[in-house]
Amino acid sequence: MQAKIQQYLLEVASATPSNADEAEFLRLRFLGRKGVLNDLFADFKLAESKDRREIGQLLNELKTSVEAKVLEHSAGKPKVLISAEDTSRPGWSVAPGSHHPVSQVRDELVDIFRRMGFAVAEGPEMEDDWHNFTALNFPPEHPARDMQDTFFLARNPDWALRTHTSNVQVRTMESQKPPIRIIAPGRVFRNEAISSRSHCMFHQIEGLYLDRKVSFADMKQTLLEFAQAFFGEKTAIRLRPSYFPFTEPSAEMDIWWGLETEVDYRMTKGTGWLEILGCGMVDPAVLEACGIDPQEFSGFAFGLGVERIAMQRFAIPDIRALFDNDLRLLRTL
Ligand code: DAH
Repeated sequence: MQAKIQQYLLEVASATPSNADEAEFLRLRFLGRKGVLNDLFADFKLAESKDRREIGQLLNELKTSVEAKVLEHSAGKPKVLISAEDTSRPGWSVAPGSHHPVSQVRDELVDIFRRMGFAVAEGPEMEDDWHNFTALNFPPEHPARDMQDTFFLARNPDWALRTHTSNVQVRTMESQKPPIRIIAPGRVFRNEAISSRSHCMFHQIEGLYLDRKVSFADMKQTLLEFAQAFFGEKTAIRLRPSYFPFTEPSAEMDIWWGLETEVDYRMTKGTGWLEILGCGMVDPAVLEACGIDPQEFSGFAFGLGVERIAMQRFAIPDIRALFDNDLRLLRTL
């Protein structure tokens, strides 16, 4: 019996199945229900006990060598020709992705300002005190510098995560001469409790327009154009006096939202007006800090929050939903 198995071992070792059918044939001949191995195992049961160990080992060897041969063949080459070449097969479907609502709104806003001649500028998210506060005319004791609002870097508290994109204003004015027309979209950080209305990280778009004889009326017209491009051509705006350290005078811009439904009522706190952005004429002290002569140049700046506008556009009542990455929500937007 041993000799017989040796013979089979030789046969398997020298077998060279050249296609899947031949490999299958080899498998059936040895491993099939009526195959060689089943017969041999039947004989094995009748073998004398002194031979059993040796025969057992040989049988195992034969079995694994057949399996290896079959596997080697069928793994490497296609069994039947239904692979890439088969043009009748349905294709792989790839689920198309989409842009996050915050990106959608940001891109749309950026697009509108670009059409008006603004260039996109960028600045660092990790910023020093000068560019985030001091050059923007924040007094030394201003509460925004407080630990409560600002994330300072533990390793070096002279640095912080920028609390607004206004730092890009400063960096642009330091490195370019007017005329300047830029918008700076980007991420900002505030050490605030996370709630349905506020988050510790969100996105802003900063705008800066600087040239000779730029007036408050220029700002108003630019912002009206923007509001009508984004919210619809009949949109009305109003400017309310406000305060920012880096602009004088400063204002907040509302758009007329309407007061027709209960939701309108809630969103506008019963006024019908919706606050969209902060703006103002760049304070001469800021121009001076950035090396620009306020006698020669003037300009306006504005800053708006992207999440807030995305929440209005997509009727999302809770800002946290924008950062949960819950596909059930994102797929609907
Ligand atoms: N930096 C302000 C903020 O974070 C937004 C802002 C308001 C920017 C008025 C401006 C501006 O440039 O003129 O709340």
